[in-house]
Amino acid sequence: MNFGFIKDVTAKNSNIVVGLDVGSAKVCVVVGEVHTAKDNNPSLSHLAKGGIRGVNIIGAVSAPSKGIKRGVVINIEQAVESIREAVQKAEELTGVDIKMVNVGVTGKHIEYIASQGVIAVKESEIGVREVEQVIDAARAVAIPFDKEILHVIPSEFIVNGQSGITDPRGMAGVRLESRVQIITGAAASIQNLTKCCRKAGLEVIDVVFQPVATADAVLTQDEKDLGVALIDIGGGTTDMALFQEGNIFYSSVLEVGGINFTNDVAIGLRIPSRDAEQMKISHGCSMLSLINREEEIETGYSDGKAGKKILRTHLIEILQPRAEELFSLIKKEITKQGHHKMMNAGVVLTGGAVLMKGMDVMAENILELPVRIGKAAGVEGDPEIINNPAYAGGMGLLLREAAENLKQQELNSGSIFHGIKSKMSGWLRLSV
Ligand SMILES: Nc1ncnc2c1ncn2[C@@H]1O[C@H](COP(=O)(O)OP(=O)(O)OP(=O)(O)O)[C@@H](O)[C@H]1O
Ligand SMILES: [Mg+2]
Repeated sequence: MNFGFIKDVTAKNSNIVVGLDVGSAKVCVVVGEVHTAKDNNPSLSHLAKGGIRGVNIIGAVSAPSKGIKRGVVINIEQAVESIREAVQKAEELTGVDIKMVNVGVTGKHIEYIASQGVIAVKESEIGVREVEQVIDAARAVAIPFDKEILHVIPSEFIVNGQSGITDPRGMAGVRLESRVQIITGAAASIQNLTKCCRKAGLEVIDVVFQPVATADAVLTQDEKDLGVALIDIGGGTTDMALFQEGNIFYSSVLEVGGINFTNDVAIGLRIPSRDAEQMKISHGCSMLSLINREEEIETGYSDGKAGKKILRTHLIEILQPRAEELFSLIKKEITKQGHHKMMNAGVVLTGGAVLMKGMDVMAENILELPVRIGKAAGVEGDPEIINNPAYAGGMGLLLREAAENLKQQELNSGSIFHGIKSKMSGWLRLSV
């Protein structure tokens, strides 16, 4: 979705890009600087991708999230406060005056509509303009009044009846058709999120379906082509997105996340949630077979009272069934409608909850697919940030903005896109 706002690329900060990931556990702000092919910075040359020489991550911060539940704003004032806090921290850390952001949206309200469009081609060959027109034609379907379009993703183009074309530019033909997936979200949820950003003093450049952005950061083109499941296990939810032939084709949200693990520990060990969270992070593991059964840990301190010693197995006996249940639910969801056998490139895990020891091993055992933890590619900076799967979402949002930024620069410099307004659909986003 685009708000018609075109970034002033002549501004001093035009190479600064910011991703805002408003999650149920944390609000995360990632700030980066884009180095284009024109910049003479050889140290970033190995990152060159789609005209972007590299994106240097200047800083990433997070603040506890309040007023957001399962990807939806439930309390505007609290959500605004959390966003403000995260942005202020990021400004202090990076020295950047943050004004504009790409923000991610997710939740159970996301839906897909398949559509198609057709136009007559009057020019001797198909150009950017015709492609834009045929995508617009596919976009013109009846969308329920309470929904908004987030993305229009072309799956193929058909030129004079010849199907399976991914990029028809430069081809001759008189009839151009497009088949697209339209991703919609609840208008109220999207508006509430953008309202929170505005109230926190931010201009929203684009609202992006979060898995689409995360995929930009952690998935390779090969994985997306072959078939891959991107599974983000966050605080309140587990977001699953399935890709094949280069595009997202299915997604769903399970209302289970890291918070459920913490609650189980709090109840099981009869300790406050704050201590349970700390114990989970310091000593958690999803598999008993991976720990030393003799090991003792402290239950933590709360309200000034000293904690007591317990065997670590007591903690893992609580965490393991929750992890097993979660991956079984994920498997059921992937297997539904035969998607499991399409995941030729396996599974990529992101989200803070996958930091728990053993999550990838258990995922591989239960899902019966190769599993890896997602790390951002095409960025440079502190490895603690880049390799952290909890920051993958924020980095994806930032990378999308970097691609958009580059496109704008090409527009201004009179490249092939010259004269075409910026409201291009996803296919023209230079992939990063
Ligand atoms: N080392 C760790 N071990 C286990 N769990 C962890 C670890 N680090 C973070 N977590 C858990 O990760 C969760 C937060 O993940 P993340 O930051 O991806 O959530 P979010 O994006 O705010 O939430 P959501 O995506 O559900 O809206 C919390 O429940 C936290 O306890
Ligand atoms: Mg998240």
